[in-house]
Amino acid sequence: MSDTIQIDKLNEQAQELEPREILARTLELLPDAAIAFSGAEDVALVAMAVKIKPDVAVFTLDTGRLHPQTYRFIEDVRTHYRLNLEILTPERAGLEALVREKGLFSFYRDGHEECCEIRKIRPLRRKLAELDGWITGQRRDQSPTRNRVPVYQMDASFQGRHGDLVKVNPLANWSLKQVWDYIRLLEVPYNPLHDQGFISIGCEPCTRAVGPGQHEREGRWWWEEATIKECGLHRGNLNDH
Ligand code: ADX
Ligand code: SF4
Repeated sequence: MSDTIQIDKLNEQAQELEPREILARTLELLPDAAIAFSGAEDVALVAMAVKIKPDVAVFTLDTGRLHPQTYRFIEDVRTHYRLNLEILTPERAGLEALVREKGLFSFYRDGHEECCEIRKIRPLRRKLAELDGWITGQRRDQSPTRNRVPVYQMDASFQGRHGDLVKVNPLANWSLKQVWDYIRLLEVPYNPLHDQGFISIGCEPCTRAVGPGQHEREGRWWWEEATIKECGLHRGNLNDH
């Protein structure tokens, strides 16, 4: 499963497949693969996956800085689907040292990397070290840094339990509209912030609503350059540009 030839072949075949078919294939090939659920519109992935495998492993990175609506939404999704959900939290020592030294809003001054590293990346690294694959809601139309995201890729940033780690992006070829058509048609629960102008939702201090005609990523880390807006979860995307 882990060599490039198979990845290429899987990608070729995936061009003809719908996201739910990609998910079914992935969960067959990598039974321990887990879905990274952010509490935003990638709930569509969860809704598809539970139909294929009701006890599919799902995890979310609780940074401690999410909107109250996002926490409630994550809990709603957990109970609605009786989800096998793992909620990961940052390691205490690193977090306490950061806020002791720099306070609670250092990212506005020093950039988001340091805080994201502690609140998201380290817990993610710890989780991925148990897996052979992870499944994300990344799409190509999400951002200039994601316009080449393939359905299947070897993760160049993180290691799995046997070394190589497969990263799967079943929604890569879907547009934002297709995700929302799916959510509305199937009455999938969604984060109420989406009804208040939020499209891409992350941590509360680093996310804001966007106005008409603005791109969804303009609401994330708006004080930083658009071309570097990756928090480290998907840092590999920057190397492709
Ligand atoms: S981010 O890197 O800029 O924060 P984004 O919000 O676009 O990522 O989400 C892309 C995908 O990354 C989501 O569909 C989800 O799979 C994963 N992801 C992002 N944030 C989280 C989170 N807090 N917990 C789990 N997965 C996440
Ligand atoms: Fe910290 Fe903002 Fe990154 Fe959340 S998005 S981990 S608050 S810098």
